Amino acid sequence: MRRKIVAGNWKMNLNADEARDLFAQFVTIAPAPKVEMYVFAPSLYLDRLITGYPSVVKVGAQNAWYEDRGAMTGEISMWQLSELGVKAVLIGHSERRMYFNEDNALLRKKVDAALLNGLEPFFCCGETREIRESGNYLDFIRTQLEESVFHLDRNAFCKIVIAYEPVWAIGTGLTATSGQAEEVHAAIRSWIEQQYDAETATNTVILYGGSCNPGNAQSLFACENIDGGLIGGASLKLDDFSKLVSEEVWTI
Ligand code: PGA
Repeated sequence: MRRKIVAGNWKMNLNADEARDLFAQFVTIAPAPKVEMYVFAPSLYLDRLITGYPSVVKVGAQNAWYEDRGAMTGEISMWQLSELGVKAVLIGHSERRMYFNEDNALLRKKVDAALLNGLEPFFCCGETREIRESGNYLDFIRTQLEESVFHLDRNAFCKIVIAYEPVWAIGTGLTATSGQAEEVHAAIRSWIEQQYDAETATNTVILYGGSCNPGNAQSLFACENIDGGLIGGASLKLDDFSKLVSEEVWTI
């Protein structure tokens, strides 16, 4: 069976005490069988979360630069993260694409650097509202994957997690219906099969993200091609995150 993952993306929220307290509670959660928990925390707190707590919740960074070291004031490298014991990194979140002009070519370099440094890349893709309304959203998402991850050979590709996050659903309270999300997830899986093979497509974890919460997660996670969620707002609340990983939601 494919891995199931619920990953919190805390974004630029929480002070140090709040982050420590929330993480200390997350590590006590007993998730549904086979559901893995990740938290993508602000980089400032990664060290204390990795060293201070049991590793039942994997700790990831929300962004990193692709070169190992050099004159890149203010950046943190994949290499530095991996030295610290960080397990995973978000690449291509729509907020990075939108506010920091990260394009597919740059994200390809970041994917390569993450894999070289032994980090698990969670590669985010997804369309804006305009693109959805134009009807060309599948072509748009396919291009994101073609230009940033489909250059990988099969072995490397098997190490990445894909997160489909429609930009119009992020932080807006508008969730894709399970039908809308499943359509894209199934399409992504079919492109992976065309690019690699059926086994790779079957094994790739594809998460949904965008206003996912305990009220809508069950119908999303029940879809054949949706293997869990990348959770923003609801990952800042212990109750919501606990429910999102619980047997209540995961009727596997
Ligand atoms: P949201 O964010 O759950 O608050 O919509 C999801 C994300 O940005 O990963």
